[in-house]
Amino acid sequence: MRNSFNAIKIAPHPEEARSAVSKDARPFCRKWIVVTALCVAVVACDNMANQPKRLPFELPGSKIAEPHWPALPPAGTVARDGEPEPMPAPPLTLALLERGHERFEIACAPCHGRAGDGHGMIVERGFPAPPAFHIDRLRAAPVQHFYDVITHGYGAMFAYADRVVPRDRWAIAAYIRALQASGNAKLADVPAAKRQQFQ
Ligand code: HEC
Repeated sequence: MRNSFNAIKIAPHPEEARSAVSKDARPFCRKWIVVTALCVAVVACDNMANQPKRLPFELPGSKIAEPHWPALPPAGTVARDGEPEPMPAPPLTLALLERGHERFEIACAPCHGRAGDGHGMIVERGFPAPPAFHIDRLRAAPVQHFYDVITHGYGAMFAYADRVVPRDRWAIAAYIRALQASGNAKLADVPAAKRQQFQ
């Protein structure tokens, strides 16, 4: 009895049978869809690369007339890979000093310390210690020296030319001069009205 019951084969429901067939066919179809898409993409990319178009900063005279396209870099553009134009020192003003103060605290104080004593936070954590700006040799150095050190780096110090624009280099150099003056100042140098604050 049991044997004959097992022998009965139950035919799959027509719905199931259909989905079983389409499942087998799916990987095949998917493969061809991917291959076709890749071919189309390759052909399409090739066409886009070769189509007539204006390239950035292409000089005038190209086949496509497009008057607003930036054919030349805007005035004052500085090449990142070239030596920037040497800039003469701008006149010393309070605004320049304040700008130098702000930039110094961002770009230099992490190593040189806010007072320029060479004990910035990065040095406290192990970076080679720079000399204090208050030593005689740096007090006697021309202001151009500070501009040049920022531009080219010095010994263990990296160049800051790509982070500090020429005008800001002068501003920082001026502020370093102010730090040097304050680091070696006597009470008599302070205006009489403000001396009380330091006594
Ligand atoms: C990452 C740390 C670091 C930063 C940031 C840094 N410096 Fe320095 N600086 C040094 C070190 C270290 C030295 C000493 C290099 C040596 O003698 O090998 C140094 C040396 C100097 C000197 C002395 C050069 C001499 O003649 O002895 C000057 C001036 C100077 N830095 C200016 C600046 C200015 C201005 C900035 C900000 C724009 C700045 N540094 C940012 C680490 C730094």
